[in-house]
Amino acid sequence: MLSFLQQPLALLASCLPFLPSMKFPSPSISTAALLASSHVNVTAAKVFDLSDAKWTLTSPGNDSVVGIKGQVPSQAHLDLFAAGVIPDPYFGLNDFDLRWVARSNWSYAAEVEGLDSSNGTSTWLLFQGLDTFTSISFCGQHVASTNNQFRQYYFDVSSIFSSCPSTPTLNINFGSAVNITEAIANQPGQETWPVGVEQIYEFPNRQFMRKEQSDFGWDWGPAFAPAGVWLPAFVIQLPPSGIYVRNTLLDIHREGQLNNLPPDQSAPWIVNASLDVLGTVPSTAALAIEIIDMSNNTVASGFLENITVSGSTITGSVAVDSEACQLWWPNGLGPQNLYYFNISVFDGDQTLASVTKRSGFRTIVLNMEPISQAQLDQGIAPGNNWHFEINGHEFYAKGSNFIPPDAFWPRVNETKITQLFQSVVDGHQNMLRVWASGVYSPDFIYDIADEMGILLWSEFEFGDALYPVDAEFLANVKEEANYQVRRVNHHPSLALWAGGNELENLELELAAGLDPGNDRWRQEYEQLFLDILLPAVYGNTKSISYIPSSTTNGYLTLNFSLPIPMIERYNNETPGSIYGDTDHYNYDSSIAFNLSSYPVGRFANEFGFHSMPSLQTWQQALDPSDLYFNSSTIVLRNHHYPPGGLNTSNFAAGSAGMAEMTLAAERYYPVPHHSDPVANFSAWCWITQIFQADFYRSQIEYYRRGSGFRERQLGSLYWQLEDIWQAPTWAGIEYDGRWKVLHYVAKDIYQPLIIASYLNDTTGGLSAYVTSDLWSEAKGTATLAWYDYNGTLLSPPTNVPFTVGALNTTKVWQSTITTLPYSLKTSFMHLSLTATGSLPNSPNTSTFTHTSILATPHLNTVTLSDPGLLLSYNNNTGNFTVQATKAVAAWVWLDLPAGVLGNFDSNAFWLLPSDGVREVGFSLKSDGGNGGWAEGVTMRSLWDNTQP
Ligand SMILES: *[C@@H]1O[C@H](CO)[C@@H](O)[C@H](O)[C@H]1NC(C)=O
Ligand SMILES: *[C@@H]1O[C@H](CO)[C@@H](O)[C@H](O)[C@H]1NC(C)=O
Ligand SMILES: *[C@@H]1O[C@H](CO)[C@@H](O)[C@H](O)[C@H]1NC(C)=O
Ligand SMILES: *[C@@H]1O[C@H](CO)[C@@H](O)[C@H](O)[C@H]1NC(C)=O
Ligand SMILES: *[C@@H]1O[C@H](CO)[C@@H](O)[C@H](O)[C@H]1NC(C)=O
Repeated sequence: MLSFLQQPLALLASCLPFLPSMKFPSPSISTAALLASSHVNVTAAKVFDLSDAKWTLTSPGNDSVVGIKGQVPSQAHLDLFAAGVIPDPYFGLNDFDLRWVARSNWSYAAEVEGLDSSNGTSTWLLFQGLDTFTSISFCGQHVASTNNQFRQYYFDVSSIFSSCPSTPTLNINFGSAVNITEAIANQPGQETWPVGVEQIYEFPNRQFMRKEQSDFGWDWGPAFAPAGVWLPAFVIQLPPSGIYVRNTLLDIHREGQLNNLPPDQSAPWIVNASLDVLGTVPSTAALAIEIIDMSNNTVASGFLENITVSGSTITGSVAVDSEACQLWWPNGLGPQNLYYFNISVFDGDQTLASVTKRSGFRTIVLNMEPISQAQLDQGIAPGNNWHFEINGHEFYAKGSNFIPPDAFWPRVNETKITQLFQSVVDGHQNMLRVWASGVYSPDFIYDIADEMGILLWSEFEFGDALYPVDAEFLANVKEEANYQVRRVNHHPSLALWAGGNELENLELELAAGLDPGNDRWRQEYEQLFLDILLPAVYGNTKSISYIPSSTTNGYLTLNFSLPIPMIERYNNETPGSIYGDTDHYNYDSSIAFNLSSYPVGRFANEFGFHSMPSLQTWQQALDPSDLYFNSSTIVLRNHHYPPGGLNTSNFAAGSAGMAEMTLAAERYYPVPHHSDPVANFSAWCWITQIFQADFYRSQIEYYRRGSGFRERQLGSLYWQLEDIWQAPTWAGIEYDGRWKVLHYVAKDIYQPLIIASYLNDTTGGLSAYVTSDLWSEAKGTATLAWYDYNGTLLSPPTNVPFTVGALNTTKVWQSTITTLPYSLKTSFMHLSLTATGSLPNSPNTSTFTHTSILATPHLNTVTLSDPGLLLSYNNNTGNFTVQATKAVAAWVWLDLPAGVLGNFDSNAFWLLPSDGVREVGFSLKSDGGNGGWAEGVTMRSLWDNTQP
């Protein structure tokens, strides 16, 4: 129903002293004054937080777990661990030993005290997240069953409550997701797929549940399949005709903006607000908004126009002058300006409800439009674009993939995410892909990303499988998607919605190979990812782009006059054209540094290789007797490519991934043979990290250089940012926040200006390029110098002046592998740059420096000598000083003792005697109660691996 309640007041103030192009009538009444005159006297809803209730946890049918202390939010594993019923789920082989918890049913119960029983009050249960298959009763009466971890559920229990003879008890019974999905899969007539389409890691049938897909195991994680009230839950009591806002959509876009298309940056902003409530919104209701900056100044306020009320939702919008507010920018590209939006629902002289959301003004578009003639003229290959634009600017997306930071979400808190995201910012990253088979990130994660400027490419929770398309499943997904899109949309850090992970490039390809000629799989894919999910995005927001699959060749057609505007390209390619983003894994380490083995695309959304975590991290989870490389506990915690699921009887599966790491280390580096077994283990863990980091460095350099090549490559997000537990994985940051070699190397190579060398493995051509992701030209000098491994400078360095354009690359040196002046067996080239330029949106000129090394990748063929490393800590500055006194130190590594969290400004670098004393800054995040931690810092380099 559309109801124009009144002449919209369209009241606008501005954060600027005056507006040259004021588009709106000046206010006749100040809405701020109207709001302040306090009509707010409707009795507010009463909110009972169910985390305050006394919960008990019971396993029906299991006498050993009856009435232990439970919590909300929590999960059964966490409460069982807290009560001492089970050991730490992360320790040793408990991933296997606690499978019975996943196979059990769990019942949470609590009395709900203090509810208001006055006449006319309505009583609701409101669950922000139930994981997953539940049957809920209140005062002994069945309320509902639920089956979707990602939906918000709300139930009117007024009549049950009013007839409840005593204090009502709330019971939430959770069924075993493992058993229930098995039963769903076995239903007569249930859909099946060609065997091999579903990627099974531990428990099968995950495609039948709307629950975190990695709960059933993944190649980097355990399989606990937890159950519980995983997000906050409330009882809400409403006075007669009261309402309670349960979800808020706030969409800020440019007037005329359409999803997936670059908008007119001079158009006014449209602020669209839509509130979902418990209770009924009167058809005569109105909406007002007040926009307040972070210094508490009101910058705009007024009634929303074009109000529509449909039962429990009220929607309206207002235009805000384009110049009125400061833009929000990602990390490294400008400031993160944020505003509070106070939104109120009025009826007559009453304020029925109000809600505050923090948001920002920005446009973010994934541009997949065809390459234009102007772009062809610049030398860009034909095909389509595949890059992000922030506030109308192309930029280079630098980042990684964010997986669930814990197998148990209730213990993921703001401290953990703040520390993790600080590492993202410190690592010069501006974007994370929030991988599709975990959970939709809670608001606090987006809030931290909003503040730190981390763009979150967000995904619906579907990955590495094909999914059912029966009506009930699709209806369930539709509810989930609408809720999540509306909940998250106000966060300026939200960059994109993708339908799921590795669907077009992997799943449809697998299905096509296993079941040739059958178009059913693609049709079903489109039913879910185009017909259901696309409208959930386009129907709720104009500001966010959508792609059905994380890796995709984009669309053939985007036509908003079609019922579903997007027609996918798939493999409908023209030779010589370049289309989409790329996903690259190759576990044959013999070609790890062959640039021709890397994909040529517009954007690299995942690529990687696994490595071991540090000794210190292993010590958190392993018995000391298991601290050796191929101990069975370690092998069984390696979940890389277990064919058909990993269990203690197919141990060989786990060893395959161990062997890949071992082979790669042996192929390129001296590997340790220390007599002390723990030191040997620690050095082995480290050398696997060196290979991993070196491999990513090579790929990131290659992708970044592509910004100036015909592919116009504009993004590199490696797999994966962080760990879910202590295990060999693709992560750059270990479970407790410790940086692996990878995160330091990524930090180095994600600097705005980099210099790097490139070997063409077909022609033997060698070259060096300077690559810049600044938005304006930078000028500087590249210096190339040959040294031997003793650190002797072999000839005077060559200085090459250069100018590098915005988002571009420039060649500063060229040679061939066969005509080098010195042998790579005994010498290496040190490349460095110094340049001046400006960071985006900065009025200042900055100086940029970067160094890199051109050496043989086979450092195990080089004779390394004792570098005579010295390390000291300066208590006054908090910095370390390091020095190589005798010879070149390759891959110098500063190592923190167990329990200490922090990061060095740089690490994993080469140190030459001619560098003298080098200062290395350090930021301490937590000393773990060990004031003397600095003395426990150790230092090593590749040479140490050659010592007994
Ligand atoms: C709201 O409060 C004002 C001032 O106290 C009073 O005049 C008005 O009657 C109240 N309205 C309702 C509906 O109680
Ligand atoms: C789940 O299935 C397993 C294996 O069939 C069975 O042992 C277990 O009792 C089942 N759990 C429940 C709660 O029925
Ligand atoms: C509540 O309403 C019912 C039915 O209208 C009435 O019988 C009862 O007396 C009322 N109770 C109170 C406490 O007002
Ligand atoms: C803005 O107002 C809030 C609430 O009154 C207060 O806590 C905060 O400190 C204020 N911020 C500034 C920048 O004045
Ligand atoms: C309200 O609706 C009218 C008519 O469709 C439209 O012209 C106007 O732009 C809308 N206002 C806003 C703020 O969206």
